[in-house]
Amino acid sequence: MINNQNLVTYLFIVVFLSTFFSCQKATKNQGPYDLKISEGFTNPVGFYNGNPTFSWKLPEGVQGQSAYSLAVASSPDLLPDNADLWESGQVDTNQSLFVNYDGEKLASRQKVYWQVKYWDSEGEESKWSETAFFELGLLNNSDWQAKWISLPNEKAVDIAEIGRKVHKVQYLRKNIKVQDDIESARLYITALGLFQAHLNGKPVGDDVLTPGWTSYKNRIETLTYDVSSLLAKGENTLGIELAEGWYAGRLIFRRYSNRSPQVLAQLEVTYKNGEQETFISDNSWKGTANGPILYSSLYDGEYYDANMEMPGWSTSDFDDSAWFEVVEESISEEVKLTPKRHTTVTTKITLPTKSVSERTKGNFVFDLGQNMAGVAKVNIPVKKGQRVKIRFAEMLQSNGEIYTKNYRSAVSTDFYLPAKDGQIEWYPKFTFHGFRYVELSGFDENATPEKSWVSGLAQYSDFDKSGTFSSSHRKLNQLQSNIEWGLRGNFLDIPTDCPQRDERAGWTGDAQVFIPTSLFIADVHSFWASWMQTVRDDQRGNGSIPIVVPDIDGRRVSSGWGDAATVIPWETYFRTGDKEILEDSYQTMLGWIDFYKSESENHIVEMFTYGDWLQPFSEHPTDERKGETDEKLVNTAYYARSVDLTLKTAEVLGLNDDVEMLQSWLSEIKTAFQNQFFNANGSVSRGKSTQTAYLMAIGFNLLTPEMEEKAVPYLLAEIAKADNHLRTGFLGTPLLAPVLDEIDRPDIMLEMLFKETYPSWFYSINQGATTMWERWNSYTHKDGFNPGGMNSFNHYAYGAIGQWMYERIAGLKPVKPGYKEILIAPLLGGPLTSVEASYNSPYGIVSSAWKIENGMFELKTTVPPNTTAKIVIPGITSESLILDGIDFTDNAQVKLIKKTEKEFELEVQPGRCVFESKL
Ligand code: BGC
Repeated sequence: MINNQNLVTYLFIVVFLSTFFSCQKATKNQGPYDLKISEGFTNPVGFYNGNPTFSWKLPEGVQGQSAYSLAVASSPDLLPDNADLWESGQVDTNQSLFVNYDGEKLASRQKVYWQVKYWDSEGEESKWSETAFFELGLLNNSDWQAKWISLPNEKAVDIAEIGRKVHKVQYLRKNIKVQDDIESARLYITALGLFQAHLNGKPVGDDVLTPGWTSYKNRIETLTYDVSSLLAKGENTLGIELAEGWYAGRLIFRRYSNRSPQVLAQLEVTYKNGEQETFISDNSWKGTANGPILYSSLYDGEYYDANMEMPGWSTSDFDDSAWFEVVEESISEEVKLTPKRHTTVTTKITLPTKSVSERTKGNFVFDLGQNMAGVAKVNIPVKKGQRVKIRFAEMLQSNGEIYTKNYRSAVSTDFYLPAKDGQIEWYPKFTFHGFRYVELSGFDENATPEKSWVSGLAQYSDFDKSGTFSSSHRKLNQLQSNIEWGLRGNFLDIPTDCPQRDERAGWTGDAQVFIPTSLFIADVHSFWASWMQTVRDDQRGNGSIPIVVPDIDGRRVSSGWGDAATVIPWETYFRTGDKEILEDSYQTMLGWIDFYKSESENHIVEMFTYGDWLQPFSEHPTDERKGETDEKLVNTAYYARSVDLTLKTAEVLGLNDDVEMLQSWLSEIKTAFQNQFFNANGSVSRGKSTQTAYLMAIGFNLLTPEMEEKAVPYLLAEIAKADNHLRTGFLGTPLLAPVLDEIDRPDIMLEMLFKETYPSWFYSINQGATTMWERWNSYTHKDGFNPGGMNSFNHYAYGAIGQWMYERIAGLKPVKPGYKEILIAPLLGGPLTSVEASYNSPYGIVSSAWKIENGMFELKTTVPPNTTAKIVIPGITSESLILDGIDFTDNAQVKLIKKTEKEFELEVQPGRCVFESKL
């Protein structure tokens, strides 16, 4: 008999099972969700693009979309039936990503509302989505009435404490009279340098290091803040702090600049009565460089003198009669002012101190347990006039002292000079550091340091995490964590090589090898699209791409680095499905391959290259950092790679004439490559036989199929010679996994990945790594610190293995752009008994969780709506396959398409499934 209690339990089990273990689960009629525009923006204010694209997700349970309808209006009240800007009408297509806006022309400042609905695969119509919106920023230079301002002649000054020249921080202010009650107000602002705006004593926004780093001579990004709640009728004050930042500070390849920071601000107020008023930065403002932040430099740190505080300096009560007149500056009309096209940097994670140790009397080291980039917040007792000194390090020396040698010339030290005894809470504003350890001295020595005194504010561009990965193996999980922290530490507005030494630059080579992994970890679509715009901005007249972007060096070019111009757009497109980056970048790609051509003779490229950078055991005759793979081989292989990606792009864009031209171009390069660098027996004929030479030839598909078959044993021999260790640098390492997979030897890759000895991923973990290191042996317990001049403990390049961890170990691989088709084919092997990963794809969550228990393999998968997946289940195929607890037979959701001796291949429609097979 079923009593009520049992009935509830029974119903619960049924519901539970159908939620988690059913392949099919229909939620009819629900509207689309997660509405985004362009590169993944949700309801942005100050949006950059008057021609956006629209994307949405279908609710779980829906199989696919057969049509959509979009309604776009100037007011939410007009939606969905009276949309005045655009009504797409019912469009029969399964496209739910990046649908081009095709309505009325949109203008700067315009606020636009939109809704979407879809018809599912059975033709059933959904409800309308919730209303989303976007508000455009100032799209044109002509929208700006404001003037660039700064204090006159504000040049960098010598700072004795740090032996560096740094700009003092400027404080600028203006009282304004707001005539009436406010409906809304926007502050449009940017700087050449870094700014923090204040209104009536309150900071505007919680982002830092704004506006970020672009190619300032071409394009300066502007920000829009909704400041409606910070203003009121009557007297108000706008204040701005202005620091040197990337624009005016020293940078690698640029010791000191003569530049002075400047700011541009325009406050636009709409009154309740509908009238508008604009307040601008101009020479009626006043300023001083005698405020509490004495100076602030990205490499060298910040100095705060509390004695110089100016209470209320950004309020209308403040007396600024001792302040100075500012001057109006002019910048070239050619420089485009455009709204920032990705999120600003902010504090994303706060790390508490794990332990504190005393070095010498009054000098303590706080360990956060995790290497990171950002600033340290101190909450400490201080004594009037006794200067607090805060130093940083990624590592400790054997005697417990902080190790700062690897910062090279970056002083990376903050100071705080107290005006009175008491407790202070402080962190710097216009600098950042790469660190795990914080050394503190100068605090009130009567107090005993506590962990709560110091925390680490990890700062990076404000994007969400999109992937999760965990496994039964502790070190593999640590590796995943190290890769993620490598990203967090180096996605500070632009992709940097490292966040700590006197470098922190947009090294193109590092970026191009890491992009696929980064797109698994976080929603960095707009981050890459934005940086790619700077790559385009900085492309030189001869088509060459600088080694770092934004360009600082102004001269050098390297193969494997400049290829960011082709790899970044291609990977971004392939992993998001957004064609726009291909359209925008195609000419740049052509320019880059033309440059290669101009540097080549019969397609063999002779140009500078950093080569297979930092290959272990290199015996390069002049610069061991360059690795041993023949430089012309590296050049020509990457030349071919870039032509290939340009060709693929031309195909996607339907540029048929170009496709033909590029096909023959590519095949000429391949022939030249084969003749020049390979023997007919498949061995390398020029330069040293290295893993990377074979990896490039096979990985970039440069050999004929026959030659490739012959080359494989040579590659395997190179690997065997190294006892199945890698002998690859920045360029070769990312090719190991895809190539070993392609030649059906993923077992070797697994062995390499799980190696504990040098050089290997786990080797660094065994030496204590909590981020990716620049070198596998940046530090060893046995020999201490690597003596090399470059020794960063936060360099994401070798984190490129993350892609394979997601794609093969977990088995989540896009087959068609944007994950329209997915391959879920987990790779078993090594010591792993279980792996779980999920990825928030453009269509929704795709996931794979597998485990092996008692000879049985179990795989739980999620395939998002509007996609299809091929799922490969390992097992003894003479035994049956179990689907959701029962013997599998073909059904509408899952079809067997192939069975070999050791695996089942299935075609799977959206939904969740649990597969079991006997191993
Ligand atoms: C950077 C690298 C970069 C390299 C060029 C280094 O100083 O830190 O990551 O790619 O120079 O070879």
